[in-house]
Amino acid sequence: MLPSLTHERLLILDFGSQFTQLIARRARELGVYAEIRGPHITGEDLRRLRPKGIVLSGGPASVLDPGAPGLDASILEAHVPVLGICYGMQLLARDLGGRVRQSARREYGGAALTVENGGRILAGVERTSRVWASHGDIVECLPKGFTRLAKTDSVDLAAAEDPARSIYAVQFHPEVAHTTQGSRILKNFLFDICGFSGDWSMGQVLNEAVHKVRDQVGTRRVLCALSGGVDSSVVAALLHRAVPGQVLAVFVDHGLLRRGEVEEVERAMGKALEHDLLTVDARDRFLAALRGVEDPEEKRKIIGREFIRVFEDTARAKGGADLLAQGTLYPDVIESTSTGGPSAKIKSHHNVGGLPLDMKLELVEPLRELFKDEVRELGTLLGLPASVVGRHPFPGPGLAVRILGPVTREAVETVSLADDIFIAELKRSGLYDKVWQAFAVLLPVRTVGVMGDGRTYEQVVALRAVTSSDGMTADWARLPDAFLARVSTRIVNEVPGVSRVVYDISTKPPATIEWE
Ligand code: XMP
Repeated sequence: MLPSLTHERLLILDFGSQFTQLIARRARELGVYAEIRGPHITGEDLRRLRPKGIVLSGGPASVLDPGAPGLDASILEAHVPVLGICYGMQLLARDLGGRVRQSARREYGGAALTVENGGRILAGVERTSRVWASHGDIVECLPKGFTRLAKTDSVDLAAAEDPARSIYAVQFHPEVAHTTQGSRILKNFLFDICGFSGDWSMGQVLNEAVHKVRDQVGTRRVLCALSGGVDSSVVAALLHRAVPGQVLAVFVDHGLLRRGEVEEVERAMGKALEHDLLTVDARDRFLAALRGVEDPEEKRKIIGREFIRVFEDTARAKGGADLLAQGTLYPDVIESTSTGGPSAKIKSHHNVGGLPLDMKLELVEPLRELFKDEVRELGTLLGLPASVVGRHPFPGPGLAVRILGPVTREAVETVSLADDIFIAELKRSGLYDKVWQAFAVLLPVRTVGVMGDGRTYEQVVALRAVTSSDGMTADWARLPDAFLARVSTRIVNEVPGVSRVVYDISTKPPATIEWE
C-alpha cells in the first residue's frame, strides 16, 4: 500500500526510463512528495490520488510501435498540469494530434539547447545550455495549441507547451545532472505551474512515521532484525522512538561481520535502543553449518536458513511478538508497482536474513516511502551517529561471500583484518564517504613471493572499491596510487599469510560488486 499522505502529491507515470526514480528524487529534494506509478492509471485512480501535477517519464519504446504503452485519455482531461519528458513528449504529441517520426539520427548523450521563447516551462532558463538527451523518435509537428520553445542541434522541437491546457513537454531529461538548467525547469513546473508549496521535509516525515507506527502497533510487540546496516538501524530507532519497550531488536552475530562491528553496533544502537536491543552470539553455529561449503549460493542458503532459525528461537524465548518490522525502501515498492520497462527490472536484491515466512506476523514497514538518502537523513534526525547512517552497505551473508572457497575461522580472521586496514585507511584519507562500498576479498589461490631471504607461497587479497548511486550499476573507484600503495604495504606486513594484494578494476555490469 502506498501512503495515505497528507502531503501534496506529484504523480510520475513510469514508461520504463532508467531515469524515472531520479525524477522522483529530484522532486523530493525540492520538497515535493513524488510517487511513481505504472502508466495504466485511470480517471478513477486519479480522483483518488488527487495529484497536483503529473510527469510522464521517458521510456525505451517507440510511440510508433503498435504495442507501445499509452495513456488513459482522462489523464489529459483532468485539468492537472502535465509534463512529458522524452517518450512522454512523443506520447503527448501523438495523442493530441501532432506527428512523431523516427529520426534518421539518434540523439544520445549531451546536446546543446537553444531557447527561443522561454514560455512558462523554460522561464529563466539560459538562452544556451547543455541538456542530456536519449531518443530515436522526434516530434515533427506539434498538436494544435502548442508553442515551440527550444531546439537542439539535431532536434527542431526540443521543448513545447500549451499553457491553456497546462501541458508541457521536453525532448530531453531535466532530471539528469548533465542537464545544467534541469533544476530550473523542474522548479518552474512544480512551483510556478503546479503550485506546489514544498511541504515535504524529513522533520515532518519523522513525525508522521512515528504516529503511523503508534497507530499500527498499538500495545502489541514488534520484532525487528538488526543487521548493523543503515536501513534496519533506522527502522529499529524509529520503532523505539514510537513504541519504546514494545520492540525486540535482535542482532545476530553470525561471526561473518566486519572487524569490531559487533561492539560498534552495540555501542551505537545500544544507546539508541536501550533495553530493546538483544545481541545473539551464534558464531559457532554458522561456522559449523558452513564447514566445507564452497558454492556461493549454497553459502547464502545456509546463512539465510540459520539466520531464520536463530531469529525465531530468540523471538520465541523472549515471549514472541505480533508484528515484524522490515526496512523495505521505496525502490523495492516501485519495483512491484511499475510497468515492466527497464526501471521495473531493477532488483531490490536480498534483504538481510530473508525473513521468516511462516511466522505469519503482521508487517511494519515504516520506510516504504523513502529513498536511501532520505533514510540516512531520518537516521540523523533520530540521533543515530554518522558511523551508522554513513556506513557502506554490507551483504547479509557477510564475509562468507568475500571468502572465495570454504569459510574457516582462519579465513575470516585474514579477510577481516585486511578489510579493517583498507577501511581504516579510507577513513584516514577522507576517501570513505567518496566511495559507495569498499572491502577486501580473500582469493582461493596461493602465489609465490619472497620475504626476507626466503621464498613464500601465500594467499592473495583483492581490494574492491566502487562508486555507485544505488548499487545496481557501479564503476571501480579511481583511488590514488599512493593510497593503494600504503594499503598494500600494510596488508602484506600486518596480515599473516598474505603476500600479494590486487585491485579490482571491473565495472558492474558485467561484474557484480561482490565477488560471489
Ligand atoms: P552485487 O554483488 O550483486 O551487489 O553487485 C549489489 C549490492 O548488494 C549487496 N549484496 C547483498 N546484500 N545479501 C545482501 O543483503 C546478499 O546476499 C548480497 N549480495 C550482494 C552488495 O554488497 C552490494 O551492495
